[in-house]
Amino acid sequence: MAKQITTARDGFATRLGVLAATLGSAVGLGNIWKFPALTGQNGGASFLLVYVLATLLVGLPVMISEIMLGRRARANAVGTFRQLAPKGQPRHLVGLSGVVAAFLIMGFYTDVAGWVFAYIFKALSGEIATTDPAVAAKAFEGLVSNPVQSLLWQWGVLVLISVIIIAGVAQGIERTTKVLMPVLLLLLVAVCARSLTLPKAGEGLAFLFTPDFSKITPSVILMALGLAFFKLSIGMGTMTTYGSYFRNDQDIPLTATRVMLCDLTISILAGMAVFPAVFNFGFEPSAGPSLLFMTIPAVFTSLPGGQVFMVIFFCLTAIAATGAMLSLLEVPVAWLAESFGMPRKRATIVTSVTLAIIGIPATLSMSTMANVKIFGMTVFDLYDFMSSNVLLPVGGIFICLFAGWVWGAANVKTELSNRGQLLNGAIISAFLTVVRWVSPVLVLLVLLKGLKVF
Ligand code: PHE
Repeated sequence: MAKQITTARDGFATRLGVLAATLGSAVGLGNIWKFPALTGQNGGASFLLVYVLATLLVGLPVMISEIMLGRRARANAVGTFRQLAPKGQPRHLVGLSGVVAAFLIMGFYTDVAGWVFAYIFKALSGEIATTDPAVAAKAFEGLVSNPVQSLLWQWGVLVLISVIIIAGVAQGIERTTKVLMPVLLLLLVAVCARSLTLPKAGEGLAFLFTPDFSKITPSVILMALGLAFFKLSIGMGTMTTYGSYFRNDQDIPLTATRVMLCDLTISILAGMAVFPAVFNFGFEPSAGPSLLFMTIPAVFTSLPGGQVFMVIFFCLTAIAATGAMLSLLEVPVAWLAESFGMPRKRATIVTSVTLAIIGIPATLSMSTMANVKIFGMTVFDLYDFMSSNVLLPVGGIFICLFAGWVWGAANVKTELSNRGQLLNGAIISAFLTVVRWVSPVLVLLVLLKGLKVF
């Protein structure tokens, strides 16, 4: 979240502003890059189904909890738990796990964002104007297997984000993001329209919407759950911080539901843009990180004047990624600034330099460090796995239990009904049951099963 908001605690001015800002954090590479990649690797429609269930049964309740707690405490993530927890409880733990998660996520997110920026120039040069999987693969490989080039792009991204935060122009960026999000949505709809009219589009749609239940395994469920956390920016305090800027008359369950639905729509649109092209042009659905970077150029190339739109598409994706990264970077920066009394400028530089170092092995895991495996994963995959599939879900369990049991029913009722202004008793009762029992038990089971603890 932006600097100016941290200093001006009066928060968001309009209800629409709240929705747009929250969406600015949620929508990013998670929708456009990660969702298609994971869906392709984990069985298509069955993965989508589990993902939707995870979003509804876990993602939404955790998001509501975070926003609710943040709004009541009117403080950052660590401060919120310090303030609302009974005395003597280890209450900063969730804040700290959020900081670690933010570092891990940024470690690989900046790498992928670097690819997106690089692709703007590749689109301009015409290098990626191809529908041939071999040529597309060569362009992608050429970038990621070149250690110097990919590191420079990643560091460029870090410098950009730091400059935005230090210069205090994050508000401007957020405003731009708000305006450009609908444009990205429109462009995504246009890509979908093209993709859906490709001769073999039906195969892609069948892959995305006809579930094969045999593909659902514990580790697939854990992946889908992790994606739900990652997508909604929850389990690590980002939404708690956003909640602290919510207006008192904002309907929290309604806003969270809208954010979740918009976010899901954008992900599904990205899937509908990518998969018809995968099957039409003969790409590999399980290509993973490279999937977006190969298929999207193919779709645009098959359109008259496609190159221009391709450039716009990667620009808008870069802007969406920047909005999400600003909210991610804010977690460690706010922690350093508030817990160690560091000036924001120094906190930003310390965070970025740390990230540049942490990011090196992730970026090099596509080139010089491809053979370095920890728990059978490359460093890039390990960062992703540890954050989305371990830290965020663990944070989610804590947040649910905290909201449902520690903070308790009376507080939840007061806060979610806006002190009795809203008549949403049934929603609140359902919410309480879910955060007390359903979400924590589900997440725990999925974690233990997915991590093969039993
Ligand atoms: N939700 C963002 C995305 O999908 C990523 C993110 C995760 C942002 C966690 C903030 C916190 O791109």
